[in-house]
Amino acid sequence: MFFSNSLLVDIAGSHPGLAVVLEEWGLDTGRAGGQTLQVACAALGLDLEEVNRMLERAKEACPAGFAGMSRAELVTHVRQVHHDYLRRILPELQETARNALRIYGMELQQLRHVDQIFRILAEELNQHVAREEQFAFPWVGSQEMSPLDLWMMDCLSEERRRATFRIDCLRFLTNHYTLPESAGESLRRLYSGLRELDRDFQRHVYVEERFLFPRQLAA
Ligand SMILES: [Fe+2]
Ligand SMILES: [Fe+2]
Repeated sequence: MFFSNSLLVDIAGSHPGLAVVLEEWGLDTGRAGGQTLQVACAALGLDLEEVNRMLERAKEACPAGFAGMSRAELVTHVRQVHHDYLRRILPELQETARNALRIYGMELQQLRHVDQIFRILAEELNQHVAREEQFAFPWVGSQEMSPLDLWMMDCLSEERRRATFRIDCLRFLTNHYTLPESAGESLRRLYSGLRELDRDFQRHVYVEERFLFPRQLAA
C-alpha cells in the first residue's frame, strides 16, 4: 500500500488534501508526525488499507500536490489557509489562555508559563506573517534579490525556527495537550486550540520551507 511506510509529517506536508484525510482519521501529525502511517494506524487500531485508500483518492483529485503548484498558487494557499487562520485564531486563543489561567491557575501552575509563552508567540507570529506578506511574498518568483532581500529571508527563517521552539515548549508544558481530569470548558478549548495551532504551524512551515522559499533562494 502506497503510503504505509511514509512518515505522517511527510504525507501531510506534501499535499493539502492528504493532511485533511489524516486529520479526519485522528492521525495526529504533531504528536505522531515521526511515525510511519503503518505504525500510527496500528497504535490507534485503524484499518491501514482503508486509510491508504482514502489518501490515494485525495491524491487523485490533485496528483502533484504542492509540488505541482505555481509560486503564485503557493503564496495564495499560504495566505488563505495559514496566515488568515493565524490572524483569526491568535486573538481568540489569547483570550482563552487568559480565562483558563484565571480559573485553573492555582491548580495548574504550568498555565502561567503557557499564557506567557503564548502571548510572546502570538505577538511574534503576527509580526512574522505581516513581514512575510510585505517583504517575501512580492519577491517570490523574481530572479533578482539584493543582499538586503537575502538578509530578510534569513530573518524570516530564524523567526520560523523561534516560533517552532515556542510551540515545542507549549506542547511540553501541556504534556502533548493532554487534559487533566478536572478540566472544564475553557481548558478544553485552550488545549484543543493549541493542538490545532501546533498542527497547522507544522504544515505552514513545511510548505514554506520545502516548496515556497527554497525555489526562491535557488532562483
Ligand atoms: Fe507564513
Ligand atoms: Fe513563515
